[in-house]
Amino acid sequence: MDVLAMLREPARLADPYPLYAELRQRPPVRLPPGEIVLSRYSDVAAVLKDPMFRKPPLPRPPSKATRVLFRMFLLLDPPDHTRLRRVVAPAFAPSAVATLRSTATLVADRLITSVPSTFDLVRDFAYPQPLAVIGELLGIPDAERPKIGAWSRTLTESLDDPLPLRLRELPRGVRSIVQGRSHPVAAARAAAGIVGYAKQRMGGATGEPVTEFLETLDRAQHEGVINADEAVATWIMMVIAGHETTANLIGNSVLALLDRPDLRTRIHNDPTLMSRVVDECLRYDSPVPYTARTATEDTTINGIRIERGQTAVVFMSAANRDPDPFPDPDRLDLTRPQTPPHLGFASGIHFCVGSALAKLETEIALTTLLPRLSSDSHRGEVTRRPSVAVRGLAKFRIQLAPSATTRSTP
Ligand code: HEM
Repeated sequence: MDVLAMLREPARLADPYPLYAELRQRPPVRLPPGEIVLSRYSDVAAVLKDPMFRKPPLPRPPSKATRVLFRMFLLLDPPDHTRLRRVVAPAFAPSAVATLRSTATLVADRLITSVPSTFDLVRDFAYPQPLAVIGELLGIPDAERPKIGAWSRTLTESLDDPLPLRLRELPRGVRSIVQGRSHPVAAARAAAGIVGYAKQRMGGATGEPVTEFLETLDRAQHEGVINADEAVATWIMMVIAGHETTANLIGNSVLALLDRPDLRTRIHNDPTLMSRVVDECLRYDSPVPYTARTATEDTTINGIRIERGQTAVVFMSAANRDPDPFPDPDRLDLTRPQTPPHLGFASGIHFCVGSALAKLETEIALTTLLPRLSSDSHRGEVTRRPSVAVRGLAKFRIQLAPSATTRSTP
């Protein structure tokens, strides 16, 4: 059973959840080069939390720019991971992120008041909102955001290429569907482009003002905590992870909530529910379906034998629909207990460092959008991204309610 190839089929790109349900009910699938696919909550959580499991080894970097990108701590193990994460974690702590609320709200208001009555939610709101917020934090001037966004998009699309997704083994037709616009040459150009830009920006060559985040990276370099490539890689990781994922969560959440007028009414009557809404949407349809970890020792997880050197491909999105511990898992339910937590932000030492920011931005996006959308918006055009690595929408034509088309926010 080639799970990864099956997930790339158009019907499963649209709805992978029946396949996830099937996977949870059978013994874990083993793939030829020594990979094992895990999909039950208890198995996925156990691997993510176990420090014996490490990030899979990286391939030889195909270019100088990729060698820099491979210093993103998302890809690294302790002690490098710990050292680099410590430099930026305070900037993303809930108390620091709370100070970004007014910026994020302003951005959302500006966007919604500038869209026409029918617009593409993805292009006109879900992407520009988090990109503008992270842009403020990282010091990306307005005019540069489209260019940086495009490089970031190309690099994210290339995530469907490397191991453990063995794309090269696929028939050419399927491969082109999966790859979409991504292409190794385009990815190499995007890597060179964004690394070149980040080096100039951080070296002060662009003449733009320095932000607190840039100062933090600069200080860490002067103190000898991180080197120049690591500072560049960290900045780029924050750009990419800081908007691609949130953009997809905003799209997935709006789509899910448009099908549930009962929930929209509840949220309208009790806006304090919004934080729960975001967590439940993350459980229900998360933008990051899976990750991978490699065993450094022979082990047994809930009776499943995993040998040293084997990679566990862990599907958080399948775990998040496991009826044990989430009864009636295919239903968006705001009254669910909060424990155990969903795995939309993973778990263990790589737990998403930007989770507070992602939640804040999505709360503000939904608060801004939901009351203004026409209730039959979901009848418009919805196209999924042709990606297994990132779950989100490529296009979502949506309509403002007639009352919202009179521009209410100054
Ligand atoms: C809804 C939005 C988001 C989702 C679903 C998400 C999901 C995740 C997941 C699943 C991981 C773990 C990956 C792994 O272990 O392989 C992760 C890590 C990470 N995320 Fe997020 N993320 C989101 C938003 C953000 C934002 C807004 C930022 C930055 C501002 C961010 C920065 C990071 C970083 C730097 C890591 C690496 C952490 C580490 O390795 O220690 N993410 N995220």
